[in-house]
Amino acid sequence: MNPGTSVFSRPGLKNYSTTQNVHLFLRMLSDKIKIAAFVSLVLAFAAYTFYLYTHLPVGQQKTSDPVIRGKTAWQKYNCSACHQIYGLGGFLGPDLTNVYSLRGKDYIRAFMITGTTIMPQFHLSEQEMNDVTAFLYGVDSSGNADPRSIKKYYDGTIEQ
Ligand code: HEC
Repeated sequence: MNPGTSVFSRPGLKNYSTTQNVHLFLRMLSDKIKIAAFVSLVLAFAAYTFYLYTHLPVGQQKTSDPVIRGKTAWQKYNCSACHQIYGLGGFLGPDLTNVYSLRGKDYIRAFMITGTTIMPQFHLSEQEMNDVTAFLYGVDSSGNADPRSIKKYYDGTIEQ
């Protein structure tokens, strides 16, 4: 057989070369694959959206929870402009992730009540101060942010 002559050629049909046949076959196949991939992505998206909307605890959080109110106050007064939580935030003031266990509740309150020469006095209400303290307690109990206390492994995972 001459090189380039198709093994698929039939009398009366257009005589494609082997390469052309392979190309045509791939094009036909890839169209089907594309459609199948698209349809499965649409289905996966629909299923995942359905799953999320039926399983996520969105709207089930109690807004009366002081920790959540404290987080709202934390955002309202933009404490993270100067403070970090787990290293994220502004760097004018210290990381406050573990301030609750390191310094205690009264110390935190004192800062909120008086401010410092650098940290503004925000005139928080009694309720807001309690809520922010509850929020910082919640953050503190979620883990340890000091990188020196974190064990690092060769594969990039860490252990607290
Ligand atoms: C303008 C920047 C700034 C903002 C905004 C700010 N702080 Fe501060 N904060 C500081 C600085 C700076 C310090 C360190 C004390 C100092 O140098 O005056 C500090 C210290 C603290 C401390 C003591 C930390 C420690 O380990 O000694 C607490 C607690 C604190 N801030 C809470 C808050 C809270 C809660 C908010 C939001 C309501 C807030 N801060 C907003 C700048 C800020």
